[in-house]
Amino acid sequence: MKIPQLNLLAPALFAALLAGWPAQAQGADIAQADRTAKIIYIGTAHFGVTLQAGSDGRLYQVPSPRPLSVPAGGGKLDRETEFHPPFGDGFISEPAVQATHADGNNSTDLIFVTNQSTALDANITLTRIELKDRYYPFFVTLCLKAYHDQDVLEQWTEFHHDEDGAVTLFRFASSSSVIQSNEYWLTQLHGDWASEGNMEEDKLGMGMTILDSKIGVRAGRFRTPSFLLSVHNPAREESGEVYGGSLEWSGSFQFAFDVNWQGQLRVLCGINPFASQYPLARGQVLKTPAMLWTWSDAGKGQVSRNLHRWARLYGVRDAAQPRPIVLNNWEATGFNFTEPRIVSLFDGARELGADLFLLDDGWFANKYPRNNDGAGLGDWQVNTNKLPHGLSYLAGEAKQRGIRFGIWLEPEMVNPRSELYEQHPDWAMAEPHRAPEVSRNQLDLDLTRPEAREFAWKAIDNTLGSNPGISYLKWDANRYVTQPGSTYLKPGEQSRLLIDYNFALYDIMARMASNYPNVTAMLCSGGAGRADYGALKYFHTFWPSDNTDPLHRVFIQWGFSQFFPACALSDHVTKMGNRPFKFTLDVALSGTLGLDLDVAKMTAAERKATTAAIVLYKQSLRDIVSQGDLYRLDSPYDQPRSAISYVTPDRARAALFVYQIKDAADQPVMLRGLDPAAKYLLREVNLPDGAVSRLPADGKTLDGAALMRDGLAPICQKQFESAVLELTRQ
Ligand code: GLA
Repeated sequence: MKIPQLNLLAPALFAALLAGWPAQAQGADIAQADRTAKIIYIGTAHFGVTLQAGSDGRLYQVPSPRPLSVPAGGGKLDRETEFHPPFGDGFISEPAVQATHADGNNSTDLIFVTNQSTALDANITLTRIELKDRYYPFFVTLCLKAYHDQDVLEQWTEFHHDEDGAVTLFRFASSSSVIQSNEYWLTQLHGDWASEGNMEEDKLGMGMTILDSKIGVRAGRFRTPSFLLSVHNPAREESGEVYGGSLEWSGSFQFAFDVNWQGQLRVLCGINPFASQYPLARGQVLKTPAMLWTWSDAGKGQVSRNLHRWARLYGVRDAAQPRPIVLNNWEATGFNFTEPRIVSLFDGARELGADLFLLDDGWFANKYPRNNDGAGLGDWQVNTNKLPHGLSYLAGEAKQRGIRFGIWLEPEMVNPRSELYEQHPDWAMAEPHRAPEVSRNQLDLDLTRPEAREFAWKAIDNTLGSNPGISYLKWDANRYVTQPGSTYLKPGEQSRLLIDYNFALYDIMARMASNYPNVTAMLCSGGAGRADYGALKYFHTFWPSDNTDPLHRVFIQWGFSQFFPACALSDHVTKMGNRPFKFTLDVALSGTLGLDLDVAKMTAAERKATTAAIVLYKQSLRDIVSQGDLYRLDSPYDQPRSAISYVTPDRARAALFVYQIKDAADQPVMLRGLDPAAKYLLREVNLPDGAVSRLPADGKTLDGAALMRDGLAPICQKQFESAVLELTRQ
């Protein structure tokens, strides 16, 4: 079996390096002989990284096809293959670590001290590798968690020192890996509000390519902190070597891809060091966010399935729990509602089959009522004109009508037109001598200030704690940072703001999740400004886009599916785009189904279709979609349709979704992931009331092997035709 390689030098190149360089003891006082022979392998079922301490004491990556090729005696290794290289003292490329020491020395020289691996359970092994500066009491711990069955490595770094004064960190990568290939193809997800998750693939040239965000809060607005990296060829869906990377961080991130003169690629991942130097006091620990890596030689499809499997167990909150079907009032009412109007929506929501009514923005603030996005943010008291009986009354009315009740909050933000801002203008981020710059009429609270942090927590705690009938929270964040200044942090600490903000944010999110374990939480940031595994561990789903036009959602969902499982993507049925209703329903059925509809404005046929779709979803699709393995069959990027399927891990059941996005002749869809030896009963589902399937295969039992070899014709030709099929092993 081929065991590949995060960060690998081709074995031939490695042999040449060894031949060319005699073993040389450098820094022999620290780099003792036993260290030079030390080989550390950190691996999963199919993927791993091999490290070796060189004769100079530094830690290097070495080729890792098993069996390990241990260089005799330990040669001096190429600095370009140092595992976590620091700036200075001979290292000339993009460093993973850069520090100014207490005495002003800008260089760091890290040597291997020790390593320890601990099996946390049958699946997870944690390896901690201690590095230390050759001279200074400056310590870097590289931490790698290997998730054996999911083929995922999670890597982060911990910094501390015992120097006589502050040390300033200028670079603090979470991971820094070298990969050797002839070509590298990088896929990113970029976008903007209402146009998220666009895939773009580019070939890496020589030198540096950077994917990043510098906007601190809702930092994924223009780019998601995840990527695919294909070697040798552009990434293919079901073949070829592809790496997947995703940073568990909601703040500014940086992925730096540096192809050097030897053709090696170093990938540096972590918090964006741009304008974010971090003063580290003696004894203080900076723990960077974890970088997730996976690899497959079966294309980006398997990379996604690895990440999804990992996410369902470790990355997304309560992923095994079925998500409630939410009906949100935002597109139906916006800010414009009254108590009777909201109560009147409950019955319709329940009749459609929704489990929960989610009251969106506009329910709070009195002195400056939240009737539009210009005022009230920060004043988290119920608006007594709109909702005279309060939130518990609404939750009670919902309960009486047989549905749960949820609420929208944006706890990190403030409108200048608010009582909060009147009383505490200094709680908002601001730069001295600059006029405050609002975005969506609001400012970011400075969560590094303890009072502001406690206020944001109390906004959540008071709302949920005093209204125990609320069992769902949509947490929004609708602006990013353009003036990263704090009136709390001292002048020399200002560059910590965007880092410490996100640590404070996670502290509040963690409190929310642990204090309210029964409240389902949706992560929203004006769409997908926070589609990342840093925040997702505290949330059940995220909102991929305010664009719910199903034609666009086909692409948006395709993009996010590269990294996130369907149980984490809220996909709502709305009227946006006025697309054929069956197409709209079918698109939402392939994720975490929800609704954003004014039931009174729906036609009888739409109501009937929605009710039937929800019954179908709950009875047979939800568990396949949310727990199954995803196979992307036809890409909307290069086909006139999108086709995806989910297959349960035991391959007993599958669901196929086909969305025609342009007119084209019918072509068979080649299924994947089925049991070739089994027979499957095919049934077209979610047909309009009274309609009979046109599919020749409907109701037939077919071989898994034939379905994967010959495919099946979905009979979708015209734009917006769609089909949903259930396959059941006989
Ligand atoms: C953001 C969200 C929307 C809605 C509005 C409310 O734009 O993405 O879904 O909640 O805020 O102001």
